[in-house]
Amino acid sequence: MGIQLYGHNIDAMAESAKIATEAKPDLIDINYGCPVKKIANRGAGAGMLRDIPKMIKMTEEIVKATNLPVTVKTRLGWDSDNLVIEDLAERLQDTGIKALTIHGRTRAQMYRGNADWELIGKVKNNPRIHIPIIGNGDIDSPQKAKEAFDKYGVDGVMIGRATYGRPFIFKEIRHFLDYGGEMPPLSLKEKVDLAKLHFNKSVEYKGCPRGVYEMRRHLISYFKGIPHFKEMRMKLVTTIEPEKVLELIDEIYKQFG
Ligand SMILES: Cc1cc2nc3c(=O)[nH]c(=O)nc-3n(C[C@H](O)[C@H](O)[C@H](O)COP(=O)(O)O)c2cc1C
Repeated sequence: MGIQLYGHNIDAMAESAKIATEAKPDLIDINYGCPVKKIANRGAGAGMLRDIPKMIKMTEEIVKATNLPVTVKTRLGWDSDNLVIEDLAERLQDTGIKALTIHGRTRAQMYRGNADWELIGKVKNNPRIHIPIIGNGDIDSPQKAKEAFDKYGVDGVMIGRATYGRPFIFKEIRHFLDYGGEMPPLSLKEKVDLAKLHFNKSVEYKGCPRGVYEMRRHLISYFKGIPHFKEMRMKLVTTIEPEKVLELIDEIYKQFG
């Protein structure tokens, strides 16, 4: 379990690392990848890709501020004219970080186009790189995860969007890597039970309505592909009372099971 930090002020980030250390996570990760305008345009997240010397200094200060392993997550560069990741990875490694996660897009791409796994592979296969390289971007199946390991040689993969409504993707990938075949798909009953557990935890942890709002994209993904789901989908994304959402999820099994 890691705590991730982002920011543009070196002193504040070093102080944040000290505070985060008190919570005793396994590691501290620095986010130099977030493309969101109000973060990146202030120079935080992927905005740090526009000032590499500052990024290096910030990373050094954070490494000094904590005794925990520090890791970094970043993108290929700010835009296609500045694909700095190969050189940047070496410089980040020199600061003492313990692993580097690369999302194979630039900030300018946001989430558009395809992640450039060739470039992620180049970083991984640079003989001067000895820290683990974790590849990220567009992995949405066990087959793609396997390809990332086999073809590009990464030490790990990180998965974002494909986890929506599919938190079991990690188990599916583990199964595929271990046994070479696909895990039997979850039944609707299993998905309903899992969605309810996920929903209850979200509300317990984040409260209402935030925990309910954040679950909407997950809920519709859990049940993606069910024919004639439109009306139920509409109800799922407009109902706020947690008890009623739980009733709707049960209703899915009654109607479509
Ligand atoms: C809604 C949303 C929130 C995200 N928040 C974070 C974040 O807090 N920290 C982070 O490192 N990446 C964050 N990401 C980026 C993902 O970790 C990942 O790099 C990106 O989605 C590409 O991977 P994917 O193709 O597997 O989704 C976020 C992505 C999305 C879509």
